Amino acid sequence: MIAGSISLTDQLRGTLGRMEVALSTIIDAITWTDEQGKVKWSNATFDNLVGQHRFQVLGANLCDLLPLTQQGQVVPIDAHPVTLALKNQSNDTRIYEFQGVDKSLFLEISWAYIQFKGTNASAVLAIRDISERQKAEEELKRHREHLKELVEERTAELVAANEQIKQAQVQLVQTEKMSSLGRLVAGIAHEINNPVNFIYGNLSYINEYTQGLLKILSLYQECVPEPPAKIREQIEEIDLDFLVKDLPKTISSLQMGAERIRQIVLSLRTFSRLDEAEVKKVDLHEGIESTLLILEYRLKAHANTPGIQILRKYGDLPLVDCYAGQINQVFMNILSNAIDSLESPCENDGLVSHNGDVYNGCSCSTCANLSTITIYTEVIDPNWVAIRIADNGPGMSETVRNQLFDPFFTTKPIGKGTGLGLSISYQIIVEKHKGTLECVSEPGKGAEFVIKIPVDPSELQQ
Ligand SMILES: Nc1ncnc2c1ncn2[C@@H]1O[C@H](COP(=O)(O)OP(=O)(O)O)[C@@H](O)[C@H]1O
Ligand SMILES: [Mg+2]
Repeated sequence: MIAGSISLTDQLRGTLGRMEVALSTIIDAITWTDEQGKVKWSNATFDNLVGQHRFQVLGANLCDLLPLTQQGQVVPIDAHPVTLALKNQSNDTRIYEFQGVDKSLFLEISWAYIQFKGTNASAVLAIRDISERQKAEEELKRHREHLKELVEERTAELVAANEQIKQAQVQLVQTEKMSSLGRLVAGIAHEINNPVNFIYGNLSYINEYTQGLLKILSLYQECVPEPPAKIREQIEEIDLDFLVKDLPKTISSLQMGAERIRQIVLSLRTFSRLDEAEVKKVDLHEGIESTLLILEYRLKAHANTPGIQILRKYGDLPLVDCYAGQINQVFMNILSNAIDSLESPCENDGLVSHNGDVYNGCSCSTCANLSTITIYTEVIDPNWVAIRIADNGPGMSETVRNQLFDPFFTTKPIGKGTGLGLSISYQIIVEKHKGTLECVSEPGKGAEFVIKIPVDPSELQQ
């Protein structure tokens, strides 16, 4: 051996010493065992972790020193990392729970099986306390879940708000349209009203004057039985006998026509009720009648259609507190739908319409009946009235009935249906008047719309 040189054993001892010091200073707990799982060496972090002195640790069974659980279940000896390392000769890393000196800990344990040539097997465990990380991860998970719930809640709120805005928008557009229409109708009615009154008022004078003139004419004829030739010629030319008979009839039909225009004008004004934006006591029959009058051109018989008959089964209704213009709008929507349904093609043979050429072709029971709309009104409770509008049209399927009141739901062709009539009517009856609107219908059995509204909404129990 060379003087001054260090022996191999000393070199090795030095290296081991440095390694031991290094391993003692790191924050991970390190331990290794013999082939039976008894601790041969551990660093200070490990001793602190298990809360034992070095002399208690050395030689102790690692499974006893370090009892572990996973998701609350005790890890049995044959699944303990030290057993897995020695028996299975495996290397791995897993997370365990461990009851430390004063608190529960999460440990990430890595183990390795070691066997050097000529030595016994041993297991090395490196243990890291990841409680803080685990806590942070769990906190993060909780936050994420909470955030998800918040987002879902908010999304649901936004969807609902969006739906409400859509409904309000529809209502607003329709209300605006109806009020412009109302203004237009009221304006036209007002403009027509004056000249019609003019004509109507003067017709009675014309009648009176004509009677006078005819009387004088007959007196002349009496006094001058043989008029001069010039007058005789003129009498023949104008067919005086016919004129004398026809003139009073013409005047009376003019009077009837003018009277009818006056009624229509009155109905237009009743229908638009622009002056009545407030709740007022209203005669509902008046509203129904003015709506029917406006729709009369659609009810009348035309060239190929026998027309639609209206049966009125009116009860004795009290005046009802409501927004007259809006209630009339509901009557208009429901009656227009009933007329549409009576005009729709009969699906039984697909060729004819219920109030059209039906009598030439289709013989189904619906078509065999005269197209009819029946309007019932009755008091159903001291504070409630019901208006039922029934048609004997084709009725509707359950699928249609379930969507009737949805905004934009229509089965009519583009340009004919908007799908707004019934959704607006529903809002007017249910939301504005605290009433109910229902439909009873089956295919082939017509449709009946039942409106129920309180006579005096202020008396409703909240
Ligand atoms: N009296 C009725 N008979 C059969 N179907 C009807 C009747 N009234 C309404 N409906 C159905 O309800 C749908 C929605 O009506 P509505 O909201 O007034 O919209 P629109 O008349 O523009 O289609 C109609 O397209 C029709 O399918
Ligand atoms: Mg409609």
